[in-house]
Amino acid sequence: MTNPSGSFSFDIVVFGATGDLSLRKLIPALYLRDVAGQLNDDVRIFGVARSGHDDEDFRAMALAALDRYLPGEAVQPAAAERFAARLHYQHLDADAPDDYRRLKASLDGGAERITVFYLAMAPRYFGPVCRRLAEAGLNSAAARVVLEKPIGQDLASAQAVNDAVGAAFPEERIFRIDHYLGKETVQNLMALRFANALFEPLWHRGVIDHVQVTVAEKIGVEGRADYYDQAGAMRDMVQNHLLQLLCLVAMEPPNAFEADAVRDEKLKVLQALRPIDERELSERTVRGQYGPGAIDGGVVPGYAEEAGRPDTTTETFVVVKAEVGTWRWAGVPFYLRTGKRLAKRRSEIVVQFRPVPHLMFPGAVRDMVPNRLVIRLQPDEGISLQMMTKVPGPGGMRLRAAPLNLSFADAFHGRQPDAYERLLMDVVRGNPMLFMRCDEVEAAWRWVEPMLDGWAAAGEMPKPYAAGSWGPSAAIGLIERDGRTWHEDMR
Ligand code: BG6
Repeated sequence: MTNPSGSFSFDIVVFGATGDLSLRKLIPALYLRDVAGQLNDDVRIFGVARSGHDDEDFRAMALAALDRYLPGEAVQPAAAERFAARLHYQHLDADAPDDYRRLKASLDGGAERITVFYLAMAPRYFGPVCRRLAEAGLNSAAARVVLEKPIGQDLASAQAVNDAVGAAFPEERIFRIDHYLGKETVQNLMALRFANALFEPLWHRGVIDHVQVTVAEKIGVEGRADYYDQAGAMRDMVQNHLLQLLCLVAMEPPNAFEADAVRDEKLKVLQALRPIDERELSERTVRGQYGPGAIDGGVVPGYAEEAGRPDTTTETFVVVKAEVGTWRWAGVPFYLRTGKRLAKRRSEIVVQFRPVPHLMFPGAVRDMVPNRLVIRLQPDEGISLQMMTKVPGPGGMRLRAAPLNLSFADAFHGRQPDAYERLLMDVVRGNPMLFMRCDEVEAAWRWVEPMLDGWAAAGEMPKPYAAGSWGPSAAIGLIERDGRTWHEDMR
């Protein structure tokens, strides 16, 4: 099968190959790209990890993962067998130079062959593994390294990771994944803004009242408590995913659809975020932690119990009222909100326009609703624009808000590829546009860190909320104090 975006020859080495990310996301994504005809016959996938497996074990694990994580895809036996033959396993201790030499001998594709090193492992290994790769001569001009978030715990540790990785690989061959950037609907934000004449002239403080960015999840911590309890929602979601979404909404039009042109504009937004200091924390942020509650009719435990940490003070919910200090956005709040164990899984960006300046329909004052653009990132991907319309029929000029709705499922039939499929092939192509540059990561930490420090200094417990709700009541209070409300369905 041929693919319109080309097919490629490469080797990919997945560190942490038997871990959750590898089996849940990377193996299925590579399989689907194989089925789509993007992997040439010579593509090889090397799983490396500390555990003592062999090729057969790894193949069995991968096939089980396809069945488990691609249930709707009806994995075809012939395609799965062909895919499995690409898989190899090698034991590797991240600290053992000999293991890297053996890896080099197995790869043996020459310095020209595209080789992707995917570090699906804890960030403390990023620097040491890259150093060992370089020492073994595995950082040729055709080699790329992929890092999963989080990059560090704070600014200093992020800089240390960036420096250590940067000593082994040049920036253009370091791919820092933020999988939100690989989501179709997130890429579509750029199409919406810059391929339509309609929005850009209105995209500023004169017409836009405020923006809401919500990433709501129903799931809890799902066996990741060791990581999550150190991170919390601010580091896990806001520092990366939500800020990247904010950047795509707020950035100036890049002059070209090129990696650095786009990333330069995003960086300017991050640098323009107005700092939130300790005195403002209580009025501009809310931290929450879920207690027991009900999701889909089933009773679920609170975070402390689920994570097995009775005294935890980690937040599972955050609201931040952010502001971008530029001519375009001064005074326009960006309400960022994310949480686990909320009522629904729903990610949306809501752009709330100002009311019309003069209302000539005297009877309609009560029914007037300012325009609202809702970009549904997941699920039910699409865009709707709330418009005022005349109610048909007699009775005078009665007005009502009605949505103009674009559903991606209706407009574009077929499967929406997973973010990792797109991102993995972009690494192979050497296109870093949808990856975070080192200065973006550091600028994001620079804004987030004082809030984390302020919370730690205040030593307050996060505000409790019941699992299955929309977060602590303080989250509603924060926006309502400004005379605004969260988008309906998400209150
Ligand atoms: C990850 C976070 O980056 O994103 C998880 O570490 C979170 O905690 C996940 O659940 C959400 O991603 P998605 O694609 O399911 O919205």
